[in-house]
Amino acid sequence: MVHMVERQPDPSLDPGRAPTTARQRASQAPVFDQLVQRYETAYRDRPEQVRAGMWLAERLDSGARVLDVGCGTGVPTARQLVDAGIQVVGIDISPAMVSAASAAVPEAIIHNCDVLDLTESGFDGAVAFFSLLMLPRTDILRALSVLHKAIQPGGYLLISMVEADLDDTPVKFLDTDVRVSGYQRDALCRVVEQAGFAILDMRVVDNTPAIAQAEPETQLYVYSRCSPYDGDSQ
Ligand SMILES: C[S@@+](CC[C@H](N)C(=O)[O-])C[C@H]1O[C@@H](n2cnc3c(N)ncnc32)[C@H](O)[C@@H]1O
Repeated sequence: MVHMVERQPDPSLDPGRAPTTARQRASQAPVFDQLVQRYETAYRDRPEQVRAGMWLAERLDSGARVLDVGCGTGVPTARQLVDAGIQVVGIDISPAMVSAASAAVPEAIIHNCDVLDLTESGFDGAVAFFSLLMLPRTDILRALSVLHKAIQPGGYLLISMVEADLDDTPVKFLDTDVRVSGYQRDALCRVVEQAGFAILDMRVVDNTPAIAQAEPETQLYVYSRCSPYDGDSQ
């Protein structure tokens, strides 16, 4: 599926709240510092995420540079991309996740960095699997704009989120208090398009995590490309 729409501001996707401060975003880091082990156990089987990584690797030359946003433990995605010959730069706000990813994928460059503070650019692609949902919607739009600047024209952006109509809402996640955001599937496509990406495909997956403390959820994987690009080739 390939469709492009004209970029129009859409206030229904962003309530126009003031952006968060770096300090507010950093307050999510200790949550993930304590979740390294539990997250790996609950979400150890992620065939759709592996499939997305494979899709990306197949479209990039060996030596291409890919940014992994909110890389977590580096498994499966950073590990998979490095094994496919890709240079991976991973960023995460959680120091414990950065340590875990550095150990699991020593060939990658892993930074303790907030996506909104990213200054590196020239990437051939980026992935953000289940990381942007940790931001309020206002910041998701800002993060996608940051990624649009970081990725070369024609480069790929793959993101995944849980389908939910939420904005910076407190929820229990693996017995821990976190704040999350989400969109229904059409709205998520519009947000990605609004940031300057052309949607190539969306995959919708029902997922039941491997442990009882995590709820079944519908996951959305969006495959997109940084406009402008030649829309005839994927
Ligand atoms: C649910 S985990 C997903 C990890 C990994 N992408 C995966 O698929 O296993 C979300 C990750 O995003 C990170 N994160 C949250 N907010 C972030 C931000 N503003 N900048 C960078 N990383 C962030 C968290 O520390 C956590 O490691």
